[in-house]
Amino acid sequence: MKVLGVSGSPIEKSNTDRAVQALLTATGLETEFVKLSNLTLEPCRACLGCVKTNVCVIQDDGTALAQRVKEADALVIGGYTPYCSLDSRTKAFIERMYQLRHRNALMAGKLGAVVMTSAVPHEAVPAICDMGIQSVTNYMNEEGMRVVGSVKIIGNVPCVKCGYGDGCQKSGIQMIYGEEATVDSVGIQTFEEQPLSLEAAEALGRKLGEMLKGNG
Ligand SMILES: Cc1cc2nc3c(=O)[nH]c(=O)nc-3n(C[C@H](O)[C@H](O)[C@H](O)COP(=O)(O)O)c2cc1C
Repeated sequence: MKVLGVSGSPIEKSNTDRAVQALLTATGLETEFVKLSNLTLEPCRACLGCVKTNVCVIQDDGTALAQRVKEADALVIGGYTPYCSLDSRTKAFIERMYQLRHRNALMAGKLGAVVMTSAVPHEAVPAICDMGIQSVTNYMNEEGMRVVGSVKIIGNVPCVKCGYGDGCQKSGIQMIYGEEATVDSVGIQTFEEQPLSLEAAEALGRKLGEMLKGNG
């Protein structure tokens, strides 16, 4: 049994990466972690060149990655929400996995789990993190996968790290946390310091592991 985890976050050792890795470890099974920003992955061209072969015609890392996805028994997808939408690497990954769909339904029956990081608080309206989770869940459902669960994480608005967060006219710090908020008052959000998210990731990993072993 093998569980493959992918992260669409380009930030080094990001919250999304670490949450996906924590979930993978908790499965107790053989796992592999892929950071999409380390690969070259063009979006789907909608050319339908993969229909007969289940292999994409684009010559980049997406073809080898699809083979690893095909071999995995479960897929964990971690994304984040720039401009209140699913990030482009995660989206491109999902679209490229279209090659595993045609005629043979190569994803059907696999287990799936979702990790989503959002700088906007989870209780905000509209619920940005939920929207990202829904995007990934739609993919998994459409491919006939069994979605076991999802984990939400509070991430960092980039302005806490850019060096100009307190003086910038478009600082996301005030936009998200209010007029009086500053770089120091907001601080850095880490996955490990969010007990509910950490526990949810580990619990979801354990559940995935048990289900794959036939105990769930
Ligand atoms: C260009 C850009 C736009 C962003 N816009 C949003 C946004 O609209 N809503 C939001 O919740 N987070 C937004 N973010 C913040 C990301 O969700 C945040 O950086 C997230 O924590 C990244 O996850 P990571 O820490 O795992 O890398 C934006 C980030 C970038 C780089």
